[in-house]
Amino acid sequence: MHIAFVASECVPFSKTGGLADVVGALPRALAQLGHKVSVYLPRYKQTKLQAAQTVIDSVTVPFDDRYRFSSVVTGGEEHGVRYYFIEYPPYFDRDALYGTPAGDYPDNAERFALFSRAVLEASKILGVPEVFHCHDWQAALVPVLLRTVYGEDPAFRDVGATFTIHNMGYQGLFPSEILPLLMLPWDLFTMSKMEFFGQINFLKGALVYSDFITTVSRKYSQEIQTSEYGFGLEGVLRARAATVTGILNGVDYQEWSPECDKFSAAKYSVHDLSGKAKCKHDLLAAFGITDSNPKLPVIGIVSRFAAQKGFDLISHVMDRLAREDMIVVALGAGDREYEEMFLRLNRQFPQKIAVKIAYNNELAHKIEAGSDMFLMPSRYEPCGLNQIYSLKYGTVPIVRATGGLDDTIEPWDARSGKGTGFKFSEYSGESLLLTIRQALQAFRDPSSWQVLMRNGMNRDFSWNRSAKEYVRVYERVRQLRSANSA
Ligand code: ADP
Ligand code: GLC
Repeated sequence: MHIAFVASECVPFSKTGGLADVVGALPRALAQLGHKVSVYLPRYKQTKLQAAQTVIDSVTVPFDDRYRFSSVVTGGEEHGVRYYFIEYPPYFDRDALYGTPAGDYPDNAERFALFSRAVLEASKILGVPEVFHCHDWQAALVPVLLRTVYGEDPAFRDVGATFTIHNMGYQGLFPSEILPLLMLPWDLFTMSKMEFFGQINFLKGALVYSDFITTVSRKYSQEIQTSEYGFGLEGVLRARAATVTGILNGVDYQEWSPECDKFSAAKYSVHDLSGKAKCKHDLLAAFGITDSNPKLPVIGIVSRFAAQKGFDLISHVMDRLAREDMIVVALGAGDREYEEMFLRLNRQFPQKIAVKIAYNNELAHKIEAGSDMFLMPSRYEPCGLNQIYSLKYGTVPIVRATGGLDDTIEPWDARSGKGTGFKFSEYSGESLLLTIRQALQAFRDPSSWQVLMRNGMNRDFSWNRSAKEYVRVYERVRQLRSANSA
């Protein structure tokens, strides 16, 4: 089968979060299963291509004010996957992918509408797939276009659309006046289509027009059908419940494993944990902590600093947490509020809380390898990748039981020696504190702690199984399509 991925980020070309890891790894796993996979991405300033080659000089994208002309560049084929980049410098040759700390770029609707239309046009020249697999609001117009303005295009009649929700918190909301500029019909501005409290909602369009909807864990697929987690779209999802499913993300263990990590100070494995002590020493040095007791447990954090990630809980209990015997090492960037909170905590407890406000892949790896525990107290978490990476590094996750965090972490039970981490349900500072204290208590017994570490290291979240589930979804999409077009 030929599947075309459409997404706004992909490792190693562009990344702000886990979406890039997924779009980097899943196509390869599908190619290994014998499928043909193309991946369409925007070409950003940060997209580094070794051997870029223009494959289409000009793709016409009509806008109401004037037509825009993008080109398509290929980055070649890797691991059986072909990468195509939509090039339109006025929109994509910018310092960031979506915006600055001050806010989103004001023309994001135009940017990703151009991207989506250009992908459809390019595919007619480069090869129309059987299924478009679109990710998040930035690619949400693809299914909308396919079933509206391109509805009569014979090239796409039998082509299916699968849409994966990586995060309901980002929907692509724009004023309705954007419709004519993007040359989209006004009737999309109705409640059964893309209208959402007086605005146009790209994500809602994808939920209405895709043949099948997936999200990135089983638990999250249920949560988003409730008002607590649906961000106002729970009704739309419930109406489509028969074509909504959760498929857990996998991990690329060539990238994230202590046995072959290119950034860590020493290699180690489930059979020989000794290298981890060196990684811990190296991590503390990288954060400028050189004179603390090496026996103190280190709790790592790597995250986008966003409300989703639950860091407001930390601020509630930090005074008490700082009295515990431990060190927190945090790496992240994003909302100013949380950046300032971490910097303040660092000033207040310089020996306890070390912080780097940055986006740094090498340090992210060092934190996975060198920490004893990994903290993700998320308010909601569609899947979460860092806790799954942590398991492989013997870095015991402490998580809130939501979405993929709940699906991937089993609570530790010292008596039976079963479980892989610590989790709490109630979204409160008290629950977080209690759970961290449980973890610190467990850490004091080195032999049972090693059982806990090894339980996690022995878990296998490689992509193969999830990729097979996606193939079943693509097959279902093809059946639905042929039933529809018959
Ligand atoms: P999300 O996609 O919501 O940000 P995930 O846990 O799925 O959360 O994935 C986050 C990915 O982004 C991981 O690969 C993580 O290592 C990476 N990441 C997040 N913040 C940073 C940062 N400040 N520096 C380096 N990598 C980061
Ligand atoms: C999102 C989610 C995260 C998920 C990632 C990849 O950004 O916040 O939980 O792991 O996408 O699917």
